[in-house]
Amino acid sequence: MEKTFLMVKPDGVQRGLIGDIVARFEKKGFQLAGAKLMNVSEELAKEHYGEHKERPFFGELVDFITSGPVFAMVWQGENVITTARGMMGATNPKDANLGTIRGDFGLTVGKNIIHGSDSSESAVREIGLFFKEEELLEYSKLM
Ligand code: CMP
Repeated sequence: MEKTFLMVKPDGVQRGLIGDIVARFEKKGFQLAGAKLMNVSEELAKEHYGEHKERPFFGELVDFITSGPVFAMVWQGENVITTARGMMGATNPKDANLGTIRGDFGLTVGKNIIHGSDSSESAVREIGLFFKEEELLEYSKLM
């Protein structure tokens, strides 16, 4: 089953948005395969955001993601990578449609509430950075 990595960033956690965000993906029909509230180390932040290391905002990005707890999640289901990106909305909340997570809750590109993998390659890489295999759980087949 297709899996993606989603992370409520420190702004979303601090503002008490974890429940609302989780509810959206549950109601859509996706399954939560793993989740944890955690601090991101500087090393993990630099690895996770490696593709942006030449950007002028890289330092800001690392400082922000390490500034407080994040809620890291793995979600699974049909087309979850693309559908979750749609549910998150455009990277810059000012361009994100109302009804999307960033459109409803965000104002600025730095503090844009949530991160989600943008491709199947990123999903595999990011899940591997944040989760051990045994932290991803199977659902009951009896229901
Ligand atoms: P995310 O999906 O976590 O992936 C990279 C992040 O870089 C992106 O969300 C934004 O939060 C951040 N970002 C993109 N452009 C800028 C910018 N111009 N200034 C600060 N942060 C940015």
